[in-house]
Amino acid sequence: MKRIAVLTGGGDAPGLNAVIRAAVKTAINVHGCEVFGIVDGYDGFIAPGGVLPLSLASVRGILPRGGTILGTANRGNPFARKVMQAGKEIVIDVSNEIIQAIKDLSLDAVIVIGGDGTLRVAMELCEKGVPVIGVPKTIDNDVGGTEVTFGFDTALMIATEALDRLHTTAEAHHRVMVLELMGRDAGFIALHSGVAGGADVILIPEIPFKYEAILRKVRERAEAGSKFSLLAVSEGAKPLGGQEVFSRSGDAVYVPRLGGIGQEVGKFIEQQGIEARVTVLGHVQRGGSPTAFDRWLATRYGAAAVSAAAKGVFGRMVALRDSKVVDIPLSEALAVPKRVDLNGDGIATARGIGISFGDE
Ligand code: F6P
Repeated sequence: MKRIAVLTGGGDAPGLNAVIRAAVKTAINVHGCEVFGIVDGYDGFIAPGGVLPLSLASVRGILPRGGTILGTANRGNPFARKVMQAGKEIVIDVSNEIIQAIKDLSLDAVIVIGGDGTLRVAMELCEKGVPVIGVPKTIDNDVGGTEVTFGFDTALMIATEALDRLHTTAEAHHRVMVLELMGRDAGFIALHSGVAGGADVILIPEIPFKYEAILRKVRERAEAGSKFSLLAVSEGAKPLGGQEVFSRSGDAVYVPRLGGIGQEVGKFIEQQGIEARVTVLGHVQRGGSPTAFDRWLATRYGAAAVSAAAKGVFGRMVALRDSKVVDIPLSEALAVPKRVDLNGDGIATARGIGISFGDE
């Protein structure tokens, strides 16, 4: 293995730089490789100045930094790129140009750090002969095949701190506090932070809720002497028979931009004569320095991705299984998206301590 490239795609997550750093250091120190960073996701392969040599000096000091030194793009699917042509929006496929650019660079491996969408593109490129190794990233923790993605722990810590802070002001004012959290299709952030931060109601995409059930919980608490309640709500939560709230609808190429369910829930509670306030935590969950756990996991993932590439077996993704970092086929990781296990101990524990999921 002589030349490898690293790219980051999709929404950023704390720990991306730790993966890049570990991959660069392992590739240079252990394998004596040349390493290139691809700027702004797959686009960098064909954009002017999009391929940068990475040295040990390039990754100095980046371990605790949020974001990604390479930049990222969540609109960078080379198989379906929206462009304007003669004043009209059209969808084009630039994958062959990207594959050619990878060949021209004589790369022995491309390490792709991304979530579901970015890794799916990696798998398709691999089917067309590109030697890829994936690294699972996302604060939502919704990539299959791995116990956890890096970035999740940091988001969880931020969400839990927000709940702790909302708790004291909720209690002081006898209010209902609604915290809208990220979690497009999977409710791990709301579930884990809701339990860790003492939420009374947790709404997640996997469990459609009933407004009446939320109200019942809030009233039950008030009758028992707790005149405030804390609600942790995933952005992807939806009422039974209804749909997610989005601020911009999606189409065949792009997913909708979610957001607004917290306001809907807050509005409903106020309509019942109970004072409520809504906080949307948004991208605060994605920014800033990664936790120690995320740095540790990201570093292991980066090193393992390079080792997997050195073995010369591609189309694989590094993953955490039984606390060990292993590599598994990308196809296995992407076959079933990871969702909160409704029969698992997390949900049972939460219900057992009195948390409502708005479903009963
Ligand atoms: O996938 C991670 C995530 O944070 C989702 O929870 C959220 O829906 C999405 O990214 C937001 O993406 P953007 O940065 O494009 O608004």
